[in-house]
Amino acid sequence: MPEKTFHIHTIGCQMNVYDADLMANALMAMGYRPVTEPEAADLAIVNTCAIREKAEQKVYSLLGRLAGLKRQRTTMRIAVGGCVAQLAGKRIQRRAPYVDLVFGTRALERLPELVRRLDAGEGPLCDVAGGEGVMEMDGPRQAVVQPRVSRFVTIMQGCDNFCTYCVVPYARGREMSRDPGRIVAEVQDLVADGAREVTLLGQNVNSYGNKEGLCGFAELLRRVAAVEGLERIRFTTSHPKDLSPALIDAFARIDRLCDHIHLPVQSGSDRILARMNRRYGRQTYMDLVTRLRAVRPEIAITSDIIVGFPGETEEDFNQTLDLIKTVGFDGLFAFHYSDRPGTPACRFTPKVPLGVKRRRLEALNELQNAATLARHRSLVGTTVAVLVEGASKRCDQLDPHGGEAIQWTGRTSSNKIVNFSQPSSTEVPPANVGDLCQVRIEAAFAHSLLGVRAPEAVGLKGEACHAA
Ligand code: 5AD
Ligand code: SF4
Repeated sequence: MPEKTFHIHTIGCQMNVYDADLMANALMAMGYRPVTEPEAADLAIVNTCAIREKAEQKVYSLLGRLAGLKRQRTTMRIAVGGCVAQLAGKRIQRRAPYVDLVFGTRALERLPELVRRLDAGEGPLCDVAGGEGVMEMDGPRQAVVQPRVSRFVTIMQGCDNFCTYCVVPYARGREMSRDPGRIVAEVQDLVADGAREVTLLGQNVNSYGNKEGLCGFAELLRRVAAVEGLERIRFTTSHPKDLSPALIDAFARIDRLCDHIHLPVQSGSDRILARMNRRYGRQTYMDLVTRLRAVRPEIAITSDIIVGFPGETEEDFNQTLDLIKTVGFDGLFAFHYSDRPGTPACRFTPKVPLGVKRRRLEALNELQNAATLARHRSLVGTTVAVLVEGASKRCDQLDPHGGEAIQWTGRTSSNKIVNFSQPSSTEVPPANVGDLCQVRIEAAFAHSLLGVRAPEAVGLKGEACHAA
């Protein structure tokens, strides 16, 4: 029998990317082969996200496209996994009857068995029952979706915080932390497979292990940092209410911990933060920022913001703008509020009209984009350490030194994207994926930096320095 093929389209967060590699590894163990286009797939999986209305709409438009492919090739099977699958279950198959399999977030470990049943001619199938999900699974050994040098490791799943706007506690279930020994073993395996950087993932990594009485998050970081051959550690996401002094201290003590924290604030108004059930105020947030910068002055701070939460007034919104100006974020992910079915905020009034939400979002983005660009420009002329992830997709346009040099892409410790070229001079050895290269920044854009490889400077590994 010819080998079967699969394609996974992932929408949403890094946890979904990790899950996609779990799915890919499980399917490859069954003899399936990944393909880059759904047109060539015997099994097309949509790995879904329910966090905002837009992400959910995207699922149904993608499914519509896959339905067209299935009409041309009736042997094709369509599966839906992830958060929308967990929340909507059989409703997906009622709305899209051509979907052969729906599997929820905790049914990941049963994917091979479900696919075997599909292969045997059963279906349509729907499995949104409970289960251990990633807790009992071995991590994905092979990077199919993620860059090989920079890998994700899910350290916990679910969330107990019940922010009033958020669907995650319903889609991913209660918070559970993985055993630290298992996490460290997974990181060791990834390093053996070529990883130089790992990002530890959870909805709220700051409460890692608390419920189970495992070691705390700061201790987990220390153990992961001790893995030989690992160059950099990142983590996401942090809830401000659980950001402990021990974690702040980790930024002082663990060199391999990158100069970046993603710390979602959501709003700058205490009144709105209370209605969101965030359990911290703007002053507490700003104090955390001060303490982080006291131990790591160069730390980049990014955040998430929701504009137009029910009841948000112009004054509340102005407080958010004011907080943004005061903190000075390196980058922001801002969204306008959308009702998520089953969450308390659905019932909150008054709703902010769409036009007002859009206007506020635009004003906020304008403010932040100017700040991000200014930060990027301040790096022009400096030399930064970049972990090379791969060849830059935008080679030709970006190469300021003529078409010959290879254009690489990677990130700084502070998580800024750098595209860079290799100078033609022989004193600089060629770069490879996985190298930590010194790059002199020559130009700054809204979302990335552009530079040229600099000769290695002894003693500067992993650090940014002013070279100009
Ligand atoms: N509407 C808009 N944005 C939301 N987020 C979560 N739920 C909603 C919602 N209902 C945003 C938050 C969160 C990020 C991942 O998505 O800012 O931090
Ligand atoms: Fe959602 Fe709040 Fe949990 Fe984050 S902490 S996943 S916003 S409920």
